[in-house]
This record gives sequence, C-alpha cells and structure tokens, in this order.
Amino acid sequence: MHTSAGTLADAAAAVLRDNDRGDHTVAAPQLYPHQWSWDSAFVAVGWASLSIDRALLELRSLLAGQWQTGMLPQIVFSSAPGYFPGPDRWRTEVAPTAPVGVSTSGICQPPVHGLAVHLIGAAAHRRGGADAEAFDAFLAETFDAWLGWHRWLANVRGTHPTGLVEIHHGWESGMDNSPRWDGPYSRIEVGDLQPYRRQDLLHVADPAERPSDADYDRYVWLVDQLVAVRYDDVAARESIDFRVGDTFFTALHSLSARLLARLGERLGRTADAAELDAMADAARSAVQSSVDPATGLARDHDHRADEWLSTSTIGGFAPLICGTSQDGYDALVAELLGPRWCGHPSLHLPQPPTTSPDSPAFVAASYWRGPVWPVVSWLVTWCLDHHGRTEAAAALRSAGLAQLGDRTFGEYYHPLSGRSLGSSRQSWTAAAALAWTAAEQAAEDAAGAATAERNPVGDRG
Ligand code: SER
Repeated sequence: MHTSAGTLADAAAAVLRDNDRGDHTVAAPQLYPHQWSWDSAFVAVGWASLSIDRALLELRSLLAGQWQTGMLPQIVFSSAPGYFPGPDRWRTEVAPTAPVGVSTSGICQPPVHGLAVHLIGAAAHRRGGADAEAFDAFLAETFDAWLGWHRWLANVRGTHPTGLVEIHHGWESGMDNSPRWDGPYSRIEVGDLQPYRRQDLLHVADPAERPSDADYDRYVWLVDQLVAVRYDDVAARESIDFRVGDTFFTALHSLSARLLARLGERLGRTADAAELDAMADAARSAVQSSVDPATGLARDHDHRADEWLSTSTIGGFAPLICGTSQDGYDALVAELLGPRWCGHPSLHLPQPPTTSPDSPAFVAASYWRGPVWPVVSWLVTWCLDHHGRTEAAAALRSAGLAQLGDRTFGEYYHPLSGRSLGSSRQSWTAAAALAWTAAEQAAEDAAGAATAERNPVGDRG
C-alpha cells in the first residue's frame, strides 16, 4: 500500500479534508455540494479513522436537519449554488414538520446511521480517554434522535402488510435509477411540470453516466407531488405516484436498529433497546419474506401495483445485511461470489456490480444500472465480517482496495474496464478507503498476534 506518493489512506484523508466545509463534508466537490444523509454516515465512519470529534460533528450537523416527525432528510443544504433540485424546488417551508432555520430536502435516505454510530463508538473506545468520553456524551445526547428516526421508519413508513419500509421516491433508496425501480417509474404519468434545468450533467464526462432526462422528469414530478400535500406523511402515502417497499432499505433499518439497541442498553435505556430489537426483528422478517424462492434474492414490492419486483440487482442481497438463516446466508454468499455477480468472467475485478452483467437491465457505465460502487462494496464486506464470513469479506476487501488504487476516488467504477465514473474525489469513496485500510490493518495485527502466540520465539527470529 505504501508508494512514494504516500499511502492510499493518506490520499483518502486528503479527499475528506478538501471536502470538509467546517461542520459538514460535501458528498462531492462539484456534483454534490451539500450534505447527503447516507453519505454523511459513511463519511463519519471515514472521519473516525482521523478524528472522533470530526466524525461526531458530521452526524450532529445532519441531525440539525431532522424533521419533527423523526425523518432524517436526504439533503441538508448549505448556501452553495449549483445543485438541482435545490431548496427552491423542494419548498419544504410549506411543511409544518420541517426543521426551522435549516434548509433540507423533503425525503429521506437509507438508515445507515446506526451502523455509523456503532463504528465510531468502537473506534472511540479503542482509543479511550477523551475520545471515549466524547463519544459517550454524544450517544447520551443523540440517542433519542436516532430512536425517533427508526420509530418514524417503523410506524409511518413500515405499515404495509409486507412489513417492508416504503419509499416515496427512487432517491430515497439511494439507488436513483436502479432497474429495481423501472416498473414503478414506468407506471408514472408525468403531468404539468414547471420547467427546470439539470445541473448534474455539467459535472460528468459523459451524460450517459447519469439518469436520463425522462428519469429526471419523473424525479421532479414526485417532488412536486410531495410539495402539493405539504409533505404530510399520510397524504403522501395516499397520493404519491411512487410507493415501493424497499428491501435493501428495510435491511439497513434492521441492522441499524439492532446496533442502536445495544448502545441503548449501555445507556440503561432497556425499554427503548427492546423496542429497537423488536423493530430489527420485524424488519428482518420482512426482508426474509421478500425472498424470491426462484432466485434466492430479496425483492422490492410495488405497493401501488401490488406486485413483487424481481429484477435482480444488488438490492437482492439485502439478507446479507440484516442476517438470515445459516443456510440462506451461505447460499447468498455463494451467489454473490459466483459467476453471475462478483465472479462474472467479464468483470475487471471481483466486486459486486449494481446489476448482474447477465441481466438485460445491465448498463455498464450508467449510475446504478451496472457500475461498482465502492461504498456499497465496503458495506457488503462489513456485513459479511459482522455475520462471520471473514474469508469472503477479506477477498472482496482486497479487490476493493485494488479498485481504489487509481486514487481518483471515483463515485462509481465501470465494472468491465475498471474506469472511474461519475464524480471524482467522492467523499464516501474516500471513507470506504479509510475503513478498508483500517480493517486490513486490524486483520494483519490479529494474524500477527496469533502467530506470535503460537510461536513466540521463532517469530522474533
Ligand atoms: N443521487 C441524487 C442525485 O443524483 C440525490 O440523492 O442528485
């Protein structure tokens, strides 16, 4: 990992520092000049390798945008220009439940924050001293906010009989133009749309790397529909044209609620911890029930059309996040590493593409329709480790680090050529590099300690 230009971790740290705007980290310097919800959670995990205080500040800034309902918004806006849709289109001031004095969008993103809090806590306690104290104070101060977020997900967005957490916009999944959403989006008829101008295409090498104009019409239409009901959760559920149970999102809700439950116990919040565990159990059951017996992959559910969505994408691996039976888990790991996914012969590196190259929906260079997203790969490796599949995790981690060796810190990568795509110097890609290098170091240390224990004299040579 060491070269004359410094380590990969040094280069990743420089990306985070460059993208640091004091109290938040922009998701990317040009394409995404604000704070994004799930980006900020991953970014906070990256910051934890460098500074616990900075990691905690990242999450505090995100929480400043929390809605009175408990929703954590997808974007907390700064005053930076150049992003569409900005506050003028979101018009969240029409919502009685929007935060006061902070400008945000009016939808949410996947709940990876509990995972981030857990990991920052672990790093802080490994360091001890002031870092551990700072984390403990943060946890006591913010626990109710995280609990409120998960209660909103369970009680407002988790009411459909499938038990899957529902999303009202593809942006809420984080996987905007994934083929997962082709069916629901194809059923939307865009009405009268006020004109708008995209800004994203100014910041990529080729427009084909981004969603199409027809996609954007639908994205903006849904925003306008939410404004029309003043972001009222119940009215939105009744009227919005996109209403989908998202299995990947639900799995993350389960994982984060479970990790927060353990942190709640440390605070002596026994009843709240039990409530979080119950949410985690219910969400995991919903993910398990979404599995397609024909493929073994989890499915999303279009609530409006009342049909399961079986396009196979990375979303189908949701049970790897929240856990499932031993056999079910092993089968899914084998599928992930097998010839339809990471072991596909056409891939540049064995990393999970967002859609299998065998699928008719696969488009190698288009955003969430095929490319490899290092942050998703990192998430998968963390979950594999967490669920005891250390060998599979190590193999994917080492290929993931090789992917990042070009040091562009691309937003996503061409799965067949390995070319960096979308934005470069993307914050969460830098965070993935930091988290992976820390995990690699920990694995080496553990192996070294085990060898020294087995052979205390020989190893010292
Ligand atoms: N990914 C979205 C965008 O491209 C926002 O969440 O702007």
